Amino acid sequence: MHEDFFKRVHQVGIVPVVKIDDAARAEGLAGALIAGGIPAVEVTFRTNAAEEAIKRIVKKYPDMLVGAGTVTSLAQAKTAVAAGASFLVSPGFDAEVVDWAIAKNIPILPGVATPTDILQGIRRGLSVLKFFPAEASGGVGMLKNFAGPFPSLSFVPTGGISLDNLASYASQSNVLAVGGSWMVKDSLINAEDWAAITNMSRNAVAALQGFSF
Ligand code: 3PG
Repeated sequence: MHEDFFKRVHQVGIVPVVKIDDAARAEGLAGALIAGGIPAVEVTFRTNAAEEAIKRIVKKYPDMLVGAGTVTSLAQAKTAVAAGASFLVSPGFDAEVVDWAIAKNIPILPGVATPTDILQGIRRGLSVLKFFPAEASGGVGMLKNFAGPFPSLSFVPTGGISLDNLASYASQSNVLAVGGSWMVKDSLINAEDWAAITNMSRNAVAALQGFSF
């Protein structure tokens, strides 16, 4: 399912998880990520600016992978897709949201942290899941344990990932890409410190060199 989309996610390697308080900053933020070598962004529905931010980024950077994150209801999923989000991410497994996305042929990354969660995804034919919150749920050790019973699944671990542990995740064969907010901290976005975001993005991309991303 959605092989081309997931191939692109894998090539980019990193999905920045952003919280935008003011949609007027959306284009600047997206441009900073692109300049740093990360043409992908997950705009979380943690603020009222998310919908407008997605619209602005999609309009200015139509080739960027623009998704909606922290999608916790069907209404949010519909709003996100109408705004132009090309993929959906959820912190957990909401069957209603997942089934709607599948029916609409929209890539969705539901969050999973246990084998029971994972089985919900397998039952629906999903091959990629978000592992969340990755560090707090066992991190790399947990991913190694998932590889045994779930050999055909890939994960996008998110939650507690930084430049320090990025390589340990990237070296796992069942990691498609990693997600995280460390290069797009709220303070940097609110200060419109695009240079810092570009710089941290470059460092993250550099840390992935040598892995199959
Ligand atoms: C998410 O929703 O995916 C997380 O907030 C990202 O986790 P992080 O802030 O620890 O990178």
